[in-house]
Amino acid sequence: MHLPNMQDAKKRKQEKVNYIYEKPVVSDIFKGKKYYLRTYGCQMNVHDSEEIKAILESLGYAETNVFEDADLIILNTCAIRENAHDKVFGFLGRCKHLKKIKKDLLIGVCGCMAQEESVVNEIKTKHPYIDIVFGTHNMRELPSILENLNNHQNIEVYSKEGDVYEFGNLYKRDSQISAWVNIMFGCDKFCTYCIVPYTRGKQRSRKSVDILKEVKELKEQGYKEITLLGQNVNAYGKDLDGEIGFSKLLEKVSDIGIERIRFVTSHPWDFTDDMIDIIASRDNIMPYIHLPLQSGSSRILKLMGRRYTKEEYLTLYQKIRDKVKGASITTDIIVAFPGETEEDFNDTLDVVDACKYDGAFTFIFSPRVGTPAALMKDNLTIEEKEERLHKLNEKINNYSNESNQKMLGTIQKVLITGISEKDESKVCGYTENMKLVNVEADKSFIGKIINVKITDAKSFSLDGIIAE
Ligand code: SAH
Ligand code: SF4
Ligand code: F3S
Repeated sequence: MHLPNMQDAKKRKQEKVNYIYEKPVVSDIFKGKKYYLRTYGCQMNVHDSEEIKAILESLGYAETNVFEDADLIILNTCAIRENAHDKVFGFLGRCKHLKKIKKDLLIGVCGCMAQEESVVNEIKTKHPYIDIVFGTHNMRELPSILENLNNHQNIEVYSKEGDVYEFGNLYKRDSQISAWVNIMFGCDKFCTYCIVPYTRGKQRSRKSVDILKEVKELKEQGYKEITLLGQNVNAYGKDLDGEIGFSKLLEKVSDIGIERIRFVTSHPWDFTDDMIDIIASRDNIMPYIHLPLQSGSSRILKLMGRRYTKEEYLTLYQKIRDKVKGASITTDIIVAFPGETEEDFNDTLDVVDACKYDGAFTFIFSPRVGTPAALMKDNLTIEEKEERLHKLNEKINNYSNESNQKMLGTIQKVLITGISEKDESKVCGYTENMKLVNVEADKSFIGKIINVKITDAKSFSLDGIIAE
């Protein structure tokens, strides 16, 4: 894929590589100003936004949730599917309108879409009201980008990832109970449909000493739960000479003694027996595994470049089920990949019947410019694609409902994370196997792990009361 490679940006990267990673300092220019940050996409982006917020606040900006009050609006974007593009440009329309009234408003676009050449060109030619664009590799350059603004569009996007630099854990975390911890950036898998290796660059693992230091600090700060983050967490360390692998990392993180450890996302191809054993043997590694299937057809899996067959996936699935007692297993599935026949689709339904997933994210294949699958021949009408998605979703919802029903009457350990969205008189939280529970209990339980008796099971959540 040909990525944006602005001449200036390239030059600056060579000159300023150290500057990029300097911590920001409060500046008089930004004191009293407000920013509004909107995040699209996966947990990686959510966590990047926590870093962007901290950078802006170190400069003197304060956060506002009222879009109209902002002096700076930043959209941290996702490029995974076409509809992400439409959502972002829809919202940018509102920003443009606001700028007509508020002349000094600054508008910025960052994240994965900013790494797409077509998007950068679209911004340059059709959206002159956007002031700044920066990519996923130079997020930490935001202070210098803001300080050096002139009346022109400032586009700073690098096509190449840099090394992993520690930045002193500068995050404004959304939660004081549960924290994200990056263990790696980028992805080397190049599944043929996926844009992530292009927008996030090659896989770069953080050093395990730095990860362990961060987890220890989080524990000291009172965090109850951490989620190790990466596009491919179980390929951890493979890009670093002499570094430990993911199962050893899990073991060391578990030794720190934080109450709950989770991780997303694991790739079936990198799932080892050691990993299953460590999850099964440690009480503080939660029995919840997101195991993306993508397709149940070995033929389609091969075209997708997923490196496993239907049978290999099912064997792995069964091994996890047998060893990790009470585990929840969820998945991601793409329907209507180019060339998917009725038989291929039936294979997917077959695997869903065998695995009876606790939940799944399902998508219609979306061609992403620059990926090999975008050039493959499409064989279905939109109605046929939607029909497949609908059929799949019905099955998924039945199994997810079934797995929730099984929780009825049981006593579960729930980490209470906040007030229930459905009913303000209740609190909510997650079971060890990642089921959302609304609990009849007061706010004083927020941040605590309590025993909850499950009294009702719905399709997407459970209800419960404090167990005697
Ligand atoms: N690293 C993770 C996935 C990250 S993207 C993994 O390997 O599983 C999240 C999900 O988006 C993917 O699992 C896939 O199901 C879906 N996805 C990615 N590219 C897509 C595309 N071009 N069209 C439709 N869905 C896509
Ligand atoms: Fe994309 Fe595949 Fe990497 Fe997941 S493993 S981020 S689907 S290329
Ligand atoms: Fe989207 Fe980028 Fe994540 S494309 S899914 S925000 S890595």
